[in-house]
Amino acid sequence: MLRGKKIIIGITGSIAAYKVPYLIRMLKREGAEVQVLVTSMAKDFVTPLTLSALSEKPVYSEYFDKGDGTWTSHVSLGLWADLFLFAPASANTMGKMSSGIADNLLLTTYLSARCPVFIAPAMDLDMYKHPSTKKSIDILKSQGCRFIDPVEGELASGLKGCGRMEEPEVIFEHIKNHFLTSVTFKGKRVLVTAGPTHEPVDPVRFIGNSSSGKMGIEIAKALDNLGAEVDLVLGPVSQKVDSDSVNVINVKTADDMHQACVSVFDEADITIMAAAVADFTPEVVSDQKIKKQTGFESINLVPTVDILSELGKKKRENQLLIGFALETENERDNALTKLHNKNCDAIVLNSLNDMGAGFGYDTNKVTFITRNGEEIITGLKSKQEIASDLIRVLDRLLKS
Ligand code: CTP
Repeated sequence: MLRGKKIIIGITGSIAAYKVPYLIRMLKREGAEVQVLVTSMAKDFVTPLTLSALSEKPVYSEYFDKGDGTWTSHVSLGLWADLFLFAPASANTMGKMSSGIADNLLLTTYLSARCPVFIAPAMDLDMYKHPSTKKSIDILKSQGCRFIDPVEGELASGLKGCGRMEEPEVIFEHIKNHFLTSVTFKGKRVLVTAGPTHEPVDPVRFIGNSSSGKMGIEIAKALDNLGAEVDLVLGPVSQKVDSDSVNVINVKTADDMHQACVSVFDEADITIMAAAVADFTPEVVSDQKIKKQTGFESINLVPTVDILSELGKKKRENQLLIGFALETENERDNALTKLHNKNCDAIVLNSLNDMGAGFGYDTNKVTFITRNGEEIITGLKSKQEIASDLIRVLDRLLKS
């Protein structure tokens, strides 16, 4: 898939450097050529021998090879690359990149490169939050660098927080998406819904479902990373979005979600409805907690608005509308009915009969069915990979 693509990976001094050999293997397996450049501190975290064995190229760090007096040209390296990835990118290197300091081979090569630049930061949570780091990131973003944001988790310091470099599999997906989509998503407005809705019974109880929101969040992040402007209408979930640039609109009920969607839909070029919206809501919501002694005789439920159907009726020619279908029986037929009845351009069929797919899992297995009759069944994959597959479906729909 990446045959002949030339990628520079710049590794800086961070413990996350140990993840890069995995990434190199994945890129090489897909046919990419990988040139690794390291700062002198990076060599304390991962050995040039490992990196050169996996990349099948010498690893450069210095301008001059001390052994044979040869010179490594940062200019020709910069011009050679189709993509430049900094992973892990330390606060120090990002600070230098943003102010034009070029005191090592990696930084001079960066200044000479004409290709897209991706940056996957890794550092301690307080360093990541520091205004200087934020400033460097803002400057680099304004210069067109694309960020693969760090995630929350355990850090080398033993502290917990945001600063862990993304996993190699996710970085790999970002790179693949960059090369495998021919339509530009940059500047496209995208509306994504994710998570469940909670329909209140009284101030402490609700009717809902166990959707984690992960699938929709991954879709929002993947499109954001391709330069789209993403509004994510997110139901009540514990999952963090881990992105500064996705515009998250938090909602609780189906009615809130409906209003939030309507407020941004007209501007959206692409709408993806991954939320598991409650189909029914209690007709009457008690404003006080219903006491045990009082009890419930019954809860009268009324249907919620079918948001996707409503948007399907309003959809213009130049808007793409993607629905999800969560099924337990007659999966394909039910999904096709939803595709047509809700006026979608494609539907993503999720079957709860597939092990490891759907609510709560980090993995998913889906069938994409488009209005053009395209049908693609994916294997069981991570939700990031499914998001990448969806982007390729969108790419084709936008071209058709
Ligand atoms: N959906 C919606 N508003 C609702 C219910 C569903 O926008 N009130 C959207 C979902 O986000 C999804 C699609 O409609 O994109 C299909 O949802 P699903 O739960 O599979 O089906 P339903 O339309 O609710 O029908 P059923 O429950 O009968 O399968």
